[in-house]
Amino acid sequence: MKGVRPLFVVFEGIDGSGKTTISEAVFAHYKSIGHPAVRLREPSDGPWGRKIRELIRDDAMPGPEEQVRLFIRDREDDVTVNIRPALLEGKMVLLDRYYYSNAAYQGALGLDAGRVIGENRSMGFPEPDRVYLVDLEPAEALRRVRARNGASTGRDAFENEHFLASVRVAYLSIADGRFLVLDGRLTVRDIVESVVRDIDSLLGE
Ligand code: TYD
Repeated sequence: MKGVRPLFVVFEGIDGSGKTTISEAVFAHYKSIGHPAVRLREPSDGPWGRKIRELIRDDAMPGPEEQVRLFIRDREDDVTVNIRPALLEGKMVLLDRYYYSNAAYQGALGLDAGRVIGENRSMGFPEPDRVYLVDLEPAEALRRVRARNGASTGRDAFENEHFLASVRVAYLSIADGRFLVLDGRLTVRDIVESVVRDIDSLLGE
């Protein structure tokens, strides 16, 4: 029932899938009806998250094992500084990427996705109530990234079709009962509607 405990939901998907647009629209919906909510993202806006974004931009990321350590370090901060306090204040947390990104992206670089999930879980990070996976073909996702950037892609080490195809496979392989897989070809409006309906049912409304 409503008010038992705040909801924690995560948005996942490959670059260009639309997860950020969707999570922003879902957040705007709950804000507009006065439901206390925060929207967060990983890599976070903290020091480790900023460092990671810099490394990605400069194509200077270390090997996959070290990447896992970096993302977990950032996640520790995010959980301590942002996620837990918000949940304790009774706010709904909408998080753009969580440890499933760690499993899917570093998994696509050759690590065992299940092991990466295990490592994250052993940190005692809070478990989300729902994971919305916006599923889309990499070719279409990259078209969207190019349209958005208005420039050539390929500068970001994580944004190439072959790699994103492996990330997509890894995501689908880790999708368990907590996941709701959403068809990224649908309109933003339709996807947002499905997510809001689902969150409302989780809230018992
Ligand atoms: P992204 O959400 O795409 O950032 P931006 O909105 O700035 O483009 O995240 C940056 C990249 O980080 C993305 O390509 C996925 C990658 N990533 C991982 O590889 N592992 C992780 O654990 C996380 C959180 C992100």
